[in-house]
Amino acid sequence: MEYILLNNGVKCPSVGIGTFMLSPSDAENSVREALKMGYSLVDTANAYVNERAVGRGIRASGLPREEVFLSTKLWPSEYENPNALEETLERLGVDYVDLLYIHQPAGNWLAGYRRLEKAFREGKARSIGISNFEGKYLEELKTKWEIVPQFMQAEAHPYDTQKELRETLDSFGIRLMSWYPLGHGDKSLLKEPVFETLGRKYGKSPAQVILRWHTQMGFAVIPGSRNVDHIRDNLNILDFCLTEEEMAEIAKLDAGRRYYHRTDEQLSQFAGWRPAFEKR
Ligand SMILES: NC(=O)c1ccc[n+]([C@@H]2O[C@H](COP(=O)([O-])OP(=O)(O)OC[C@H]3O[C@@H](n4cnc5c(N)ncnc54)[C@H](OP(=O)(O)O)[C@@H]3O)[C@@H](O)[C@H]2O)c1
Repeated sequence: MEYILLNNGVKCPSVGIGTFMLSPSDAENSVREALKMGYSLVDTANAYVNERAVGRGIRASGLPREEVFLSTKLWPSEYENPNALEETLERLGVDYVDLLYIHQPAGNWLAGYRRLEKAFREGKARSIGISNFEGKYLEELKTKWEIVPQFMQAEAHPYDTQKELRETLDSFGIRLMSWYPLGHGDKSLLKEPVFETLGRKYGKSPAQVILRWHTQMGFAVIPGSRNVDHIRDNLNILDFCLTEEEMAEIAKLDAGRRYYHRTDEQLSQFAGWRPAFEKR
């Protein structure tokens, strides 16, 4: 495994498994199998409504708690809930998380961020992060944070490498964790000739080349999958290195093209929505 050294001295694995849109049973299976095959980073969220299943997957893997880097996110409906963290920990079945995000700059997100800082100070979150805080939200948070976050989770892939955002993140030592790293499975990204050519050269699939590119860009990467072969492939990316010329060739794909376009209206909907959390 390769690790990223965070601005608070904590080490985070550079490759993990994401669980967005995985049903509880798929999430449990994917997490268990991933951890059994050598993963140690797992990303979930209140909003994925699979935190209990992720917790079951971790326990079923047999790995000791301290060998898993567990990341989750508070949803805006929880920002003003004084028990948000305890309820999240209870669902996951753990007494701390390794990384705690606020998921969206919606609702009373500053109260949410204060909740992260409190969790960090109390040792219940070993590191903290913001998710989808590009632009004016990060600018505002910068003037209000008491603790600089360790991570920003944002959409990033070869079609949009978040160049402008990274300049701000770099100035604070905040690392990028890319979501939609494979374009959410977009075939046109996976079929880009440059990835097919490099895949042939290194004996890897286009998806593996893309994931290696993420790690060489310095990003933590959390591809989602319910397919055990893909899960195995997605970890099997650390035994080759793209050259500088190859990284430059891939950089030509960056046209600032996003898959997901969030509107202000969606943000206010997010603030009004509460996940239907899994029952015990
Ligand atoms: N903070 C946020 O707002 C936010 C938003 C979105 C996502 N996320 C996080 O980021 C993670 C990654 O995003 P994502 O899961 O939506 O998208 P993704 O990782 O870019 O793509 C997942 C898709 O790619 C396919 N895939 C996975 N590995 C593959 C491989 N080796 N070859 C070919 N296809 C492959 C999967 O299908 P199979 O199941 O068939 O493998 C799935 O359809 C999420 O799971 C979540 O943890 C965060």
